[in-house]
Amino acid sequence: MSETIERKKRILSGIQPTGTFTLGNYIGAIRNWAKLQDEFESLYMIADLHALTVRQVPAELRRHTREAVAMVLAAGIDPSRSLVFVQSHVPAHTQLSWILTCNSQFGELSRMTQFKDKSAKHPDNVNGGLFTYPSLMAADILIYNADLVPVGQDQTQHLELARNVAQRFNNAYSPTFTLPEGYVPKAGAKIMSLADPTRKMSKSDTNVNGFILMTDDKDTILRKCKRAVTDSDGIVRFDPAEKPGVSNLMTMYGVFTGKDMAAIQAEFEGQGYGSFKQAVGEVIADGLAPIQNEYSRILADKAYVDQVLADGAAGASRLADRMVQKVYKKVGLLQL
Ligand code: TRP
Repeated sequence: MSETIERKKRILSGIQPTGTFTLGNYIGAIRNWAKLQDEFESLYMIADLHALTVRQVPAELRRHTREAVAMVLAAGIDPSRSLVFVQSHVPAHTQLSWILTCNSQFGELSRMTQFKDKSAKHPDNVNGGLFTYPSLMAADILIYNADLVPVGQDQTQHLELARNVAQRFNNAYSPTFTLPEGYVPKAGAKIMSLADPTRKMSKSDTNVNGFILMTDDKDTILRKCKRAVTDSDGIVRFDPAEKPGVSNLMTMYGVFTGKDMAAIQAEFEGQGYGSFKQAVGEVIADGLAPIQNEYSRILADKAYVDQVLADGAAGASRLADRMVQKVYKKVGLLQL
């Protein structure tokens, strides 16, 4: 028989529940996850174990995890098409992580720029988990034989490490893991801080005017857009190098209106930044409103969220447990 059944490629991504998501998280990650669900077999994970590499307030971590799930669902990720789960609900990740840690070199882990950055930022808590974080992330990915991993620029080094560890394991034992590729969505816009448009929008920014939260109300969004740092030439033109602030606002306007940069430039020709910023704020607030309504509705429905997570954990564990058994056997752990 010449019939070939083409398997959909598998995609996996994760996001840490370290606070309310920003518009940058939405545009750069979650929104794209929703779009990828048809084309790929998708798994989306709330990486709560990764969040523990930085000290968390327990009650807040719990709340943020639930909120993260609700936001992912509100943004259009459909649990009947994708597996949505919390990392700690699938213990196989930590089991594989140990094996992969034993197959990661001190030298390569030491070279991770995020480890160096975070160690510098939290000198009082340079813990072992911060160091082995990439082995856990490798486990998240390799345990499902994910083909593609949508990640931001800051995670590409970790993805590269996952590939190296997979390759090393495959060579040392036998072909086991798929080598994952990074996936940059076509409309993979990176959203910059409103206060300093040369830096990525981040919820840990000390200046709250730098980011828009997914839960910000219309007045707050309009105010933050009005205060956004731009330049003094008064021309709405897309030029990220010379005009990072204006270009960032144009990107956001484009995301919510579907217009390209030329159309946006034409639309605001001869107008000052005042009306442009107002328009950007309006489309963001109006675009977020239905997501915010869904978010409140889902967050209030505890039974529904619990069911989604139970189903997600069961579905993910079925796949992940099988891989751990295979790997345990290969490395010589005695089977019961
Ligand atoms: N480390 C990622 C971040 O902070 C989150 C993450 C954890 C992840 N495991 C993953 C992303 C697996 C992609 C695949 O952004």
